[in-house]
Amino acid sequence: MQRACLGQSEGLTLWLAQPDDYEDVISMSAGMHDGSDYLPHRYHSWMTEPDRVVVLARRECRLVALVSYLLVDEGATVVVQGLRVCPTDRGHGVAGVIQRFTDRYIQQLHPGVKMKRLVRGQDPGPEKLVKFKILGRRGVLSLALEAESIGSFISHLRNKLQSPVIPGLIPLNEAQVKRVFLDPKLPCRVQLPGISFIQDWVPLQRMEGNLEILKRQKITWLVDSLAAPSFLSLYTPPYPIPYNGGSLCLNIDMLGADHVLAQCALVNLLEAAWAKGELRGTVRIYVYMSKALRETLLSFCEGHQGVRTCRDLVQQLFLERQL
Ligand SMILES: CC(C)(COP(=O)(O)OP(=O)(O)OC[C@H]1O[C@@H](n2cnc3c(N)ncnc32)[C@H](O)[C@@H]1OP(=O)(O)O)[C@@H](O)C(=O)NCCC(=O)NCCS
Repeated sequence: MQRACLGQSEGLTLWLAQPDDYEDVISMSAGMHDGSDYLPHRYHSWMTEPDRVVVLARRECRLVALVSYLLVDEGATVVVQGLRVCPTDRGHGVAGVIQRFTDRYIQQLHPGVKMKRLVRGQDPGPEKLVKFKILGRRGVLSLALEAESIGSFISHLRNKLQSPVIPGLIPLNEAQVKRVFLDPKLPCRVQLPGISFIQDWVPLQRMEGNLEILKRQKITWLVDSLAAPSFLSLYTPPYPIPYNGGSLCLNIDMLGADHVLAQCALVNLLEAAWAKGELRGTVRIYVYMSKALRETLLSFCEGHQGVRTCRDLVQQLFLERQL
């Protein structure tokens, strides 16, 4: 396969990633994100995804870093994803080198790009954040369980529900998704200050061009009301991750502030995924939500012996800067 060398910077050579770099990428990524790394599953689709670049950095022939930029907001912004540096090369600024190079490369490719947005799972402290505008923070609940415990976990949650009647959340069709997503009142209703919209680590402005990006994710959208939704929950089909020798990952984004609706949404989603037969083996569940909801959902999920609450990820930090 033709290798596309993009150039050199600070002792590294930078390349456009190719499908057959997969094995190198996977071996560099061993153990990443506590085993909940999405890249082994997504790498090949990233190779052909429109408006995405994946850049590799090599020292001599050895792969030392990867970063991917996805063009969003109708060409005005890139979202950084998948950033990783080989464990033996960390702490020497490599993540900065590959990003500075890719910033220049993406500007050559798409001169209209003005902003760069990223989501971090750790807060590196104010000193490291001076270059960024902080758009917001969200809480994360991280759970691990075996699929055979899911039925009894759902019953456990149903018994704990604060509401005697579970309000059913309504699934949206494509036309309804468009209307809800573009509704100018949505951020105010679902209390998303600073962040226009977020799904699975990709913060987006609510503009028509971003609907295609969301459509590619095969999201199930659930809302509390069609006329004036104040609570949305979004989930993508579970996908394989390396955790515990091979597991499934279920990512759920909840937008909204209502504690009871958040509990109901979790029950609804687990029941739907369970009924569809989507959950097998070990399942990692990540729920992304407003920080105020985290404690409620955490105590809601506690107390079932088949479910572990994990501390690998507790918050998301949304950052933006000019390119
Ligand atoms: C996080 C990680 C990529 C940092 O790489 P590193 O080369 O060791 O980082 P260094 O501290 O030496 O480099 C500092 C530079 O990298 C940037 N950087 C460090 N961590 C970053 C992060 N999580 N997101 C974006 N940029 C980051 C810093 O902003 C700094 O850039 P600058 O030189 O332009 O100021 C690396 O530790 C890693 O691969 N960890 C596991 C995967 C991971 O957590 N990825 C981040 C996903 S949010």
